[in-house]
Amino acid sequence: MPRTYLTTPIYYVNDRPHIGHAYTSLATDVLARWKRLDGHEVFFLTGTDEHGQKVEKAAQDAGMDPQSFTDQVSQHFRDLAVRMGFSNDDFIRTTEERHKRACTALWEVLAARGEIYLGHYEGWYAVRDEAFYGPDELVERDGVKYAPSGAPVEWVREPSYFFRLSAWQDRLLEFYQRNPDFIAPASRRNEVLSFVRSGLQDLSVSRTSFRWGVKVPGDDAHVMYVWLDALTNYITAVGYPDTEAERWKFWPADVHFVGKDILRFHAIYWPAFLMAAGIAPPRRVFAHGWWTNEGQKISKSLGNVIDPLALVEEYGLDAVRYFLLREVPFGNDGDFQRKALIARLNGELADGLGNLAQRTLTLIQKNCEGRLPPEAPRTESDAALFGSLDGLIGTVGASLDAQMFHAALESIFASVREANGYITQQQPWALKKTDLVRMAAVLRHLHSALRVYATILQPFMPDTMARLLDQLGVPEGARDLAALANPLPEGTALPPPAPLFRKIEETA
Ligand code: MSP
Repeated sequence: MPRTYLTTPIYYVNDRPHIGHAYTSLATDVLARWKRLDGHEVFFLTGTDEHGQKVEKAAQDAGMDPQSFTDQVSQHFRDLAVRMGFSNDDFIRTTEERHKRACTALWEVLAARGEIYLGHYEGWYAVRDEAFYGPDELVERDGVKYAPSGAPVEWVREPSYFFRLSAWQDRLLEFYQRNPDFIAPASRRNEVLSFVRSGLQDLSVSRTSFRWGVKVPGDDAHVMYVWLDALTNYITAVGYPDTEAERWKFWPADVHFVGKDILRFHAIYWPAFLMAAGIAPPRRVFAHGWWTNEGQKISKSLGNVIDPLALVEEYGLDAVRYFLLREVPFGNDGDFQRKALIARLNGELADGLGNLAQRTLTLIQKNCEGRLPPEAPRTESDAALFGSLDGLIGTVGASLDAQMFHAALESIFASVREANGYITQQQPWALKKTDLVRMAAVLRHLHSALRVYATILQPFMPDTMARLLDQLGVPEGARDLAALANPLPEGTALPPPAPLFRKIEETA
């Protein structure tokens, strides 16, 4: 059985989940569900990043000890996963024992191989990004220096262990060369390449100024740099350091889904750490863009943070899942606009797919006694419909393998439009009086088309497509891609149809 390992970033527990967190996980979920539908054994991992100065500070501000604080906030992310219908196979927390074991083991291997040495760190650190910056990267306003991300930096001077990142520059470039698909989309790849070409410095991988982290083995005064700790989660979850573990077979990961802001950590540091430890790097890192809210940057201080659960409450889970991946090409930045959301829901879902299903199933109910008509030969007039259906699964699969979610949905909905044109043109309601055989054939063709749409849209809209498949009479065991090769038997009883989507009134 082919295997697929997919990950989301692990989320900082300094804050409540917002649209950005839901977005990365949603994309990962859709690909995971698609791969399962396509017969893969899938391991889908998400979790929370619970160490570091930023979390320590947030706990202090809340007047709590860091562990109780992270227990509490991490729960919001587990709840989000359930409410958004994410099908993750595991949820990792970096404060778990298994993770400390993995970090310690990885550190020991790196140290034994001479990849880590003790030195002194002096430089600019942004707690908000948990990242170091060079002086040339900073801008100054009112006496405060800021990183390119907008986070304020502070001068840090302390003893520190270093990872010999500088020694990996050429090997990283060679690795990117040999693996042209490692970084996606392509524009991001160029960004990373030029950063690496411009020269890499050794990376400070321990801190002494705070305690909330995994202790450096053999030197209790230091805790590991939170990004070394965090990135390791991807191998912890598959059993590292136990490479005999049942799940180790999933490594290397197929896709790490990340936002563009954390690409550098995943595309440079992570493969360097792994190669230095003699572990295979992941196959691919995909960096998606950022959402703005009605044209504005999303920020707590502006008070325009989008709560994914509030959206779900208002528009329904599947509508939100659909919109987020349909509206913006995955990889680009996108603007969240309610108007656009409503237009998509009313146009593509309710009037497009919903209407097609309702019209077809109502006619089968009324004119065929609710029983599926027999398969019928294709005629000239069916050519356009089947032209849009044949090969659709392959096209969608190829788009999803490239993480082009919007393109996958675009192809599916182009075919739905074709099917709606077909029903209008063939007028099966009129055929009732003139040609019962042709009427049955048209309805059967439409049923076949709907079965394809419902099957391949399951990853995007799991609940609604389960309802559609029920209405189409497709048994539970026949809902994967392979099952599409077996037509449903003639005479299958179909339950009375019910609307799939509700239309939304646009309000001011
Ligand atoms: N803890 C690190 C990741 C460690 S992975 C080994 C982290 N966490 S985070 O909680 O700050 O961010 C998680 C994800 O949310 C990132 O992929 C980030 O890009 C994404 N988003 C945060 N705001 C976003 C938008 N406004 N729009 C889209 N995604 C955004 O970074």
